[in-house]
Amino acid sequence: MNAIDKAGGKFANLSCGDKQTTMPVRSGTIGPDVMDIGKVYANTGMFTYDPGFTSTANCSSKITYIDGDEGVLLYRGYPIEQLAKQSSHLEACYLLLHGELPTAAQFEEFRSIVTRHTMVHEQMTRFFTGFRRDAHPMAIMCGSVGALSAFYHDSTDIHDPKQRMIASHRLIAKMPTLAAMAFKYSVGQPFIYPRNDLDYASNFMQMCFAVPCEPYHVNPVLARALDRIFILHADHEQNASTSTVRLAGSSGANPFACIAAGIACLWGPAHGGANEAALKMLEEIGDVKNIKGFVARAKDKNSGQRLMGFGHRVYKNYDPRAKVMQETCYEVLKTLGIKDPLLDVAMELEQIALHDEYFIEKKLYPNVDFYSGIVLRALGFPTSMFTVLFAVARTAGWIAQWKEMVEDPEQKIGRPRQLYVGAPKREYTDVAMRV
Ligand code: SDX
Repeated sequence: MNAIDKAGGKFANLSCGDKQTTMPVRSGTIGPDVMDIGKVYANTGMFTYDPGFTSTANCSSKITYIDGDEGVLLYRGYPIEQLAKQSSHLEACYLLLHGELPTAAQFEEFRSIVTRHTMVHEQMTRFFTGFRRDAHPMAIMCGSVGALSAFYHDSTDIHDPKQRMIASHRLIAKMPTLAAMAFKYSVGQPFIYPRNDLDYASNFMQMCFAVPCEPYHVNPVLARALDRIFILHADHEQNASTSTVRLAGSSGANPFACIAAGIACLWGPAHGGANEAALKMLEEIGDVKNIKGFVARAKDKNSGQRLMGFGHRVYKNYDPRAKVMQETCYEVLKTLGIKDPLLDVAMELEQIALHDEYFIEKKLYPNVDFYSGIVLRALGFPTSMFTVLFAVARTAGWIAQWKEMVEDPEQKIGRPRQLYVGAPKREYTDVAMRV
């Protein structure tokens, strides 16, 4: 319950038994107020309890705003729909990192810096040969991105703003190169060097699909579609992987190690791994006639099955990214002249689910991962690369959030507490006494 103190500040009262405490209430630019619970334990001897952080804000941020009920996503105040249609991924990277859209001169300088950081140390190629050829590309990304901290010692001092910016540029620039190397390694083809004459998405596509034996021509429609997909995935407030990056960064770990931690978290099928899982689900369903049975199983808790690409912790309305992803799906399939039966399955599945009481009552809508697998497969990427592409795009958000956290005077090492439900204190017994 809000009250207003004499100074006009809002606060909430909390009474626990004979203990009372007041918590300052803070308002943001838009969105819910927060109750500052920092003194609750000191004043009441009790912790707050919120596994999964369903009602807990872990920071203040200026980067991304989501309204789950209205299906709104803003990067630094700009609606995702406008950025997806009018901006580029590299411009969105600048916006997330610096807080404002760049002037033409600022963008050209940023583009030039990022372009010239796209190569990785040649020793990195030796690092790759240690992996099995059938290693999952996300496993390779966890290892190789973490290994960047072994190469770029001149940008690991997090207290030096210049080094923070160099590390940010390096990560945005090198993630596509490492991702393409992971793909090439998995298919036994030689690594393709980045090209400075190509834009971000085109360069990534040529590093993935070019071969030394013949010229490779990027299809501009497909490159634009991939660039738009990168924009859609660039940031998303305090999602699991971003919170992982922030928590790792709160200990003072270097940015390369923090991003590697974010990649590991993103890999999970409940998070960034859902695009791979969603396509596998559509392949398993195979035909529209199997949808009803699959949906029935997804509604049955005991089946352990979920509708992958559906539902979201924050969006209780349509994920605005899913709409743009669906449009991109049509555009890419039309450009390539592909009639993918899985798109028919996805469209029918969406219609059935959106009219099913279970999904309506639980407010489960398609999320960004529902259509992305169909698009990425049409672009020529194997399923195992889907989450890698998510990680390439999300690096912009991760590093912007990491930088904001390092520069936030309110931030300290993240160290949650717990509700202990284990054994009470007891005496050690010798093994001879144990039966
Ligand atoms: C991403 O956080 C972000 O912003 C993430 C992300 C980003 O850009 O960073 O948006 C990217 O991770 C998108 C989400 C991708 N994951 C999936 O598509 C996997 C399938 N979805 C779910 O596992 C689930 O919806 C989550 C993990 C996305 C959200 O889970 P919540 O908020 O913790 O919700 P929940 O698991 O508590 O589910 C609430 C209810 C449960 O039923 P009850 O216990 O209330 O009876 O809804 C059910 C769930 O069983 N439910 C589903 C379901 N998702 C939730 N039932 C069937 N199919 C689903 N997909």
